[in-house]
Amino acid sequence: MQHLISPLDFSVEKLDELLDLANDIEQNPEKYVHACEGKKLATCFYEPSTRTRLSFEAAMLNLGGSVLGFSDAASSSATKGESVSDTIRVISCYADICAIRHPKEGAALVASSKSLIPVINAGDGGHQHPTQTLTDLLTIRSLKGRLDSLTIGLCGDLKFGRTVHSLIHALIRYQNVKFVLISPEELRVPDYIRNDVLLENNIEFREMVRLEDAIPSLDILYMTRVQKERFFNEEDYVRMKDFYILNAKKLKLAKEDMLILHPLPRVNEISIEIDDDPRAVYFKQAQYGVYVRMALILTLLKEAGKLC
Ligand code: NCD
Repeated sequence: MQHLISPLDFSVEKLDELLDLANDIEQNPEKYVHACEGKKLATCFYEPSTRTRLSFEAAMLNLGGSVLGFSDAASSSATKGESVSDTIRVISCYADICAIRHPKEGAALVASSKSLIPVINAGDGGHQHPTQTLTDLLTIRSLKGRLDSLTIGLCGDLKFGRTVHSLIHALIRYQNVKFVLISPEELRVPDYIRNDVLLENNIEFREMVRLEDAIPSLDILYMTRVQKERFFNEEDYVRMKDFYILNAKKLKLAKEDMLILHPLPRVNEISIEIDDDPRAVYFKQAQYGVYVRMALILTLLKEAGKLC
């Protein structure tokens, strides 16, 4: 059974097909309005989410299917002590496909090992967030026209930001991609990303602290919020939270065609004064998130033999 637990679960070719399908959905949404009629998506969210859960639900509704689930661990049987594997086994009897978000790293993988239906990892702790990565890739490919030969700045909380970890994993498979990792010392990428992913694969990268120094060379600037919920104490969070604020003055240093992405939610790291700049594409990115999730649901249900 094909699941989506890590951004590497699809080959580059398969990923290309998925992004092509997402673009076709964008261009011809009417073709897909009955594609998943009679099918059900379960959304099991043990951690807060607005965009990811609602974009999954919107995706399934756009395909003519229906949705069920919970958006809070407190309202699920987890409070009675049920394990994730038992929950997913049971949900396999109710739904055709499941998206799961959980605060523990590896939870989606455990769920997929016991599941009779395709499982989509909608975020596991500080580890991975593959559907955000599909969204990011679709946004970059659609608006830049390519995924190779890019200098990509990742800025903010690179330690706890799972969207950053997943995006790095996915992008190293394309030719001539260079990274500029912009973070305070305390929030640098974890060693397993630096050593096992970047160094191991001979990927060109630089680590920098000042956004102003990094910005002129970038084709893409991927901003992230400081992940408050993963800090051990409030004091450290308060010290870090406004470390980066992208504003009109800093944006003057950027290339005319640099794209600014952000997985959202934004806190203070992007000033609202630049929201109308044509380079600010984070709200478009949220729209691409729906197309790519539609493509993903279709692809996984087809592979599972649930669609004709
Ligand atoms: C991200 C996440 O949950 O990791 N949000 C999202 O899904 N778009 C980013 C974040 O919370 O900062």
